Amino acid sequence: MPSWAVVLGTGLSQALPDVHILHSIQFGEIPEFHAATVTSHQGCLHLATILGFPVWLQCGRLHLYEGYTPGDVVMPIRLLHGLGVRRVLLTNAAGSLHHAWDAGDIMVVADHINMTGHSPLRGPNVEAWGDRFPDMSAVYSPALQELALGAGCACGVRLRHGVYIGVRGPELETPAETRMYKRLGADAIGMSTVLEAIAARHLNLEVCALSVLTNKNLPGNMAPACLEDIIGVANAASRDLARVIAHMAPGMDATPTAPCVV
Ligand code: HPA
Repeated sequence: MPSWAVVLGTGLSQALPDVHILHSIQFGEIPEFHAATVTSHQGCLHLATILGFPVWLQCGRLHLYEGYTPGDVVMPIRLLHGLGVRRVLLTNAAGSLHHAWDAGDIMVVADHINMTGHSPLRGPNVEAWGDRFPDMSAVYSPALQELALGAGCACGVRLRHGVYIGVRGPELETPAETRMYKRLGADAIGMSTVLEAIAARHLNLEVCALSVLTNKNLPGNMAPACLEDIIGVANAASRDLARVIAHMAPGMDATPTAPCVV
């Protein structure tokens, strides 16, 4: 069974040429799961191989803005952990808050700021999953960040490296909000990933995240953001993303270095 999983976000579920799908199941067919309500998200889990390496591929995810609880949003991560996954690669579409980074660039997430106002760990702690107060000093594994950056070099895809800020959405940001998020130290902004990363670290999974920058989100020159454009850029960039993921596959599949909670 696969020891790692990839979560593919908005518009990123295609263009995985080296993937061979062995078995697929829709979210709605999995007990306790919810169907994805966003049309740009497929909502299915594939048992697959990438270049022969076994992997779980989660196409689509659930979001707070759809009305789901933080527990619903991270349910797939907890399920994957139960299936024996020890490393997760989270991908997302995000707005670039960095003046020099363009739509179509891909960013390796170095750290995050959780501005959703939610935590998947609120409420009674399930000791079998992890600690009451889990450490968040290195949410995104430094070793997996190196792996991703090295994969980018190896396959000729220039990768950015920065901080992702997660917001609840679904509305996009005002110029004043964008100015604030930049000042808080964020380089990219999106409506996913942070809750999944928190739940994964609670489970002591090793986490890596890649953000496809689908639009520039700068306070001085904000263009009205349109979902079709965001999905179009995500689709175009997903070929580069697929190359990076394929180059990461041997390293993602390796025996985890961190001790695992089972
Ligand atoms: N803001 C929030 N979420 C996003 C954006 C954005 O500019 N682009 C893609 N997801």
